Amino acid sequence: MTDNALAQPGPSTPLTLLGTGAMGTALARAWLAAGHPVTVWNRTPARAEALAAEGATVAASAAEAVAANRLVVVCLLDDASVGEALDGADLTGRDLVNITTGTPGQGRSRAAWAKARGARFLDGGIMAVPPMIGAPDSGAYVFYSGSAALFEEHRDTLAVPAGTTYVGADPGFAALHDVALLSAMNGMFAGITHAFALIRREDIAPKDFAPLLVSWLTAMAHSAHKAADQLESGDYGKDVVSSLAMQVAGNATLLRTAEEQGVSAELLRPYMDLMERRLALGNGEEDTTGVVELLLRKP
Ligand SMILES: NC(=O)c1ccc[n+]([C@@H]2O[C@H](COP(=O)([O-])OP(=O)(O)OC[C@H]3O[C@@H](n4cnc5c(N)ncnc54)[C@H](OP(=O)(O)O)[C@@H]3O)[C@@H](O)[C@H]2O)c1
Repeated sequence: MTDNALAQPGPSTPLTLLGTGAMGTALARAWLAAGHPVTVWNRTPARAEALAAEGATVAASAAEAVAANRLVVVCLLDDASVGEALDGADLTGRDLVNITTGTPGQGRSRAAWAKARGARFLDGGIMAVPPMIGAPDSGAYVFYSGSAALFEEHRDTLAVPAGTTYVGADPGFAALHDVALLSAMNGMFAGITHAFALIRREDIAPKDFAPLLVSWLTAMAHSAHKAADQLESGDYGKDVVSSLAMQVAGNATLLRTAEEQGVSAELLRPYMDLMERRLALGNGEEDTTGVVELLLRKP
């Protein structure tokens, strides 16, 4: 259930938003601009003042804000702050949408916690930075998981600040999708950092090099589709273009180049070590996808 289009104007559901940090403020502005009555609360009241001037109602406490509306969106720093802020609030009959970044385990525990307090619960993971919120065609979206009924009922309201992608009834799945994508991004940033280090002392302008990085990484990112096909079939030798054996041999050139350029290989080494271990197990004709097997810890 993916819908990356922002919602069209419709009946304006009133809602409560807990947390007016950078992200909460952007969310509140998008709902206010679309005509939704918004009640906000923030631990530090001064941080909600600008929104009051823009039409938001500022509640004196989180409990008061929760009492104001059935739909309660929470965007605080982390799971611990959600527990702290909602301690003492009556959640009976509330539709709690927690788009605070957390782990899958935290999403699941928070869902059980909300259920025990009489609330329906949806967890979320925001795939955007604040300037993308409410901006048409920015590509911003939020992963949601948990109560499908809650999601369907509030889908149009939730789609005002960013697109919506519902990933299942398991309340841990939104966080899992969010963190899996962020983890992949982390690896990409590591690669970009190493590449810039290689050219840093040369007469190559980073601004000329950046577009080359972007187009190469964009082209290579499509290999995720082949990896998915191999994972689903269980055949890591399917449609192999660049075998593990060839890639491990190529790693020597990457390491030698780092040495020649006076650059540490510490960002490259961990992945290369795993590739070498997989090769040593006799999987040279396969793709690198099989490295996934080495990462899975025994339950
Ligand atoms: N900013 C981004 O680029 C971005 C992107 C994706 C997802 N997110 C997620 O969105 C969430 C909010 O991020 P943000 O950018 O708005 O962060 P932020 O600007 O640092 O704001 C943090 C918010 O959490 C509140 N808070 C912190 N500890 C609290 C506590 N113990 N009790 C009650 N409230 C507490 C802060 O209140 P005070 O004002 O009183 O400190 C503030 O409202 C985070 O989970 C973040 O991971 C952010």
